[in-house]
Amino acid sequence: MNIHTTVDGLRSDLCSARAQGRRIGLVPTMGALHEGHLSLMRAARAACDLVVATIFVNPTQFGPNEDLSKYPRSFEHDCDLLKKENVDLVFAPSVDEMYPQGSVTWVTVEGLSDKLDGKSRPGHFRGVTTVVAKLFHIVEPDTAFFGQKDAAQLAIIRRMVCDLKFPIEIVGCPIVREPDGLAMSSRNVYLDPAQRKSALVLSRSLRRVEERFKHGEHNTQVLVEAGKGAFSAEPAVRLDYLELVDPLSLDPVSEVKEGTLVTVAAYLGSTRLIDNLVLASSSNPTWPA
Ligand code: PAJ
Repeated sequence: MNIHTTVDGLRSDLCSARAQGRRIGLVPTMGALHEGHLSLMRAARAACDLVVATIFVNPTQFGPNEDLSKYPRSFEHDCDLLKKENVDLVFAPSVDEMYPQGSVTWVTVEGLSDKLDGKSRPGHFRGVTTVVAKLFHIVEPDTAFFGQKDAAQLAIIRRMVCDLKFPIEIVGCPIVREPDGLAMSSRNVYLDPAQRKSALVLSRSLRRVEERFKHGEHNTQVLVEAGKGAFSAEPAVRLDYLELVDPLSLDPVSEVKEGTLVTVAAYLGSTRLIDNLVLASSSNPTWPA
């Protein structure tokens, strides 16, 4: 597994792979890898000839009072995990490598970037789309893999790929959960034992909505209230939003149907967690029994 920290080094490795007609898969991450990330590596490994994982804690997607400085970093361990997944190349650039001195160029997906997490985290999605566009440009993958865990991010990246005509297939991979249902996240390490327990309210609220939907409830307001109701048992958790939206436009739906995205964000102390599910009337295999 070759590890590159410069764009030139990575490009020279990729050049020969491309000349051999190998299919290149890209998995962008911010490191502190867990099973959720590794599921993306496996999807890439299964579909592509050459897998590139990137590890870059992207400063431009963090707000001024967010957790950039304390974001978990475990580079050596991450590389061990990536080696086990047979990843071919790791790209771990410095901030200066990705944002050369004087950088003023941004990629913004307008409208979508101000919804859901974008509303609570102004500028967040502009940072995401800028860095992902740079990675697409540097790596020129055939396929890129993203988690459904960040459903708004996935929708915004799909829009960007369509608008900018990137010749890249975007694959969305299912959410990987802890055995008790908590969606895996690099930020879960911030939780103390009491918060870890309380954090289950996010997945519980989604399940409540899903159950009511499966029992025939299609009224948006009723379903939103059912989901929000789960939070009354957890006063220490501050709900940011719980919304039922169209998974592409991210706009609230007036009519809830199969395929509607139920998405939730909440704060436990200063830790912000997100989770979501796509409503289906048949049983959802992603939930623990
Ligand atoms: P990060 O939070 O490290 O996540 C990297 C990828 O892993 C994203 O596509 C995310 O959706 C996916 N992922 C995280 N937790 C997951 C889980 N429990 N199940 C399945 N997939 C999961 O998302 C980012 O980094 C950044 O915004 C990035 C796209 C790298 C741009 O900086």
